[in-house]
Amino acid sequence: MTTVQPAKEIYELGEIPPIGSVPEYMFAQVVRRERFGDPIKAFQVEGVKVPSLEPNEALVYVMAAGINYNNVWAALGVPLDVIKVHEQLGDDSGFHIGGSDASGIVYAVGRDVTNVKVGDRVVLHCGSWDENDPFIKAGGDPILSTTARIWGYETNWGSFAQFTKVQAHQCLPKPPHLTWEEAAAYMLVGATAYRMLTNFQPQTVKPGDIVLVWGGAGGLGTMAIQITKALGGLPIAVVSSDERGEFCKKLGAVGYVNRRDFDHWGLMPHWTNGDGYNKWLQGARAFGKAIWDALGERRNPRIVFEHPGENTMPTSIFVCDNGGMVVICAGTTGYNAVVDLRYLWMRQKRLQGSHFANDEQAAGINRLVMEDKVNPALSGVFRFEEVGVCHQLMHENRHQEGNMAVLVGAPHGGLKDLP
Ligand SMILES: NC(=O)c1ccc[n+]([C@@H]2O[C@H](COP(=O)([O-])OP(=O)(O)OC[C@H]3O[C@@H](n4cnc5c(N)ncnc54)[C@H](OP(=O)(O)O)[C@@H]3O)[C@@H](O)[C@H]2O)c1
Repeated sequence: MTTVQPAKEIYELGEIPPIGSVPEYMFAQVVRRERFGDPIKAFQVEGVKVPSLEPNEALVYVMAAGINYNNVWAALGVPLDVIKVHEQLGDDSGFHIGGSDASGIVYAVGRDVTNVKVGDRVVLHCGSWDENDPFIKAGGDPILSTTARIWGYETNWGSFAQFTKVQAHQCLPKPPHLTWEEAAAYMLVGATAYRMLTNFQPQTVKPGDIVLVWGGAGGLGTMAIQITKALGGLPIAVVSSDERGEFCKKLGAVGYVNRRDFDHWGLMPHWTNGDGYNKWLQGARAFGKAIWDALGERRNPRIVFEHPGENTMPTSIFVCDNGGMVVICAGTTGYNAVVDLRYLWMRQKRLQGSHFANDEQAAGINRLVMEDKVNPALSGVFRFEEVGVCHQLMHENRHQEGNMAVLVGAPHGGLKDLP
C-alpha cells in the first residue's frame, strides 16, 4: 500500500490524521485470552501497530463503530476462543480487536483494489471470504463458502480501533444523510435480517405476509420490523415489556406480544409425558392467540424470525403457518432446540438456518437505508473507552431498545462528514 508520510507516530482519539496519512500506531480496544470473561473487563484500550494490507484490502479510518452481540461472545471466550481462530488463520498477534460494524474514511488501499479509493466515505459489512475459493468462482453464494469469516469476530482488526482493515468488497457508500454513529449501527444486523427475509424462496416476505419478530426491540428485531414493513409485510414483535412493544410499534410493527405473559419456555416436554406436553401446548396455544389479538385477525405468521433459539423454538414452530418458515440465525438462549416433527411434516413447515449475508444483500439493506425506508434505530452513543460497558449492558439484556455505537475518530456526535 502507498500512503502519505504521517505527521505523527500515533494520533489521539478524535484527532483526525490528514486523509491518506497512516501513522505507525493506533489506539484499539483489545481482548486478550487472560481477560476472557465479563466484557466490562475483557476490553482494554492499548496502543498497537496499524496493520498492513493484502492486495485486495482497504484500510479505513474508523469514525464510529457499531456494537453487536458477537463481541459479547468474543469477550466471554465462548462458544469460540476467537484468538485461537485468528491463530489458525495465521495471525500470531495474540489478541483480538473486535468490532463488526463501522463507518469511516478510506485511508489506503491494496494494489488490486478498484471499487474504493482513498477519501471515500464508507460503511463496512462484515462478510469476508476467499474470492479465489473454487466454490465462489463457480458462482456459489460467498457466505456459504467454507472460507467465509465474520470480520471483527472470526477475523482480527475489527472496528474497535482507529484503523480497521477489510476486504475492499466489504465497503459500501455511507448514506450521506446519516451521522457517523448512525451509519455505524445498522449493517451487521440489517444485512443479516435482510437475508433472512429475502433469500429463502418461496418463503420471502410478500405483501400482506405476517412476520413474527422475536426480540423486536433488539438489533436484529428493529431491522426485521422495518424491512418487513418496507416489503409490504405485517410485522408482529415479541418483547419483554410494554415500553419495548410501543417502541416496536413506532418502528412499524402492527402489534406486539409480551413474552413475560407466558411461562412455557425452554426445552419442550417429551411427547410421551402427557401432562407436561399438554401444559406446554396450552402455553403455545395461548401465545398463538396473543399473536391473533395483536394482529386483529386469526392468521398465523408465514415467517417466524428466530434468534433466541432453545427457549423459543418449539413455540416458533408451533405458531408458524402451514407451509411457512422459521428462519434462525442464532441461539442466544441455548443451542438444543427441540422440534416436534409432527408440526414440520404434517403442516409442511420449514426450519431454515441463516448466517449474515453476501455483498448483494448488504447492498440491499444499504439501499433501503439510503432511501430512508429503514433507519438505524440508534438509541445509545458511547465513548470509545466504553466499548466494554456497551457489551456488558448487552450481555445482561439491560441495553436500551435499538442499536448502540461508539465514537472512535469522530470528535463528537452529530457529524455527517469531517468537522
Ligand atoms: N448469525 C448471524 O449472522 C447473526 C447476526 C446478528 C446477530 N446474531 C445473533 O443474534 C442474537 C441477537 O442479536 P441482537 O443484535 O438482536 O441482540 P440484542 O440487540 O441483544 O437483541 C436480542 C433480543 O432478544 C430478546 N431476548 C432476550 N432473551 C430472550 C429470551 N429468553 N427469549 C426471547 N427473547 C429474548 C431481547 O428482547 P426482549 O427481552 O424484549 O424479548 C433482546 O432485545 C445474538 O445471539 C447475536 O449473536 C447472529
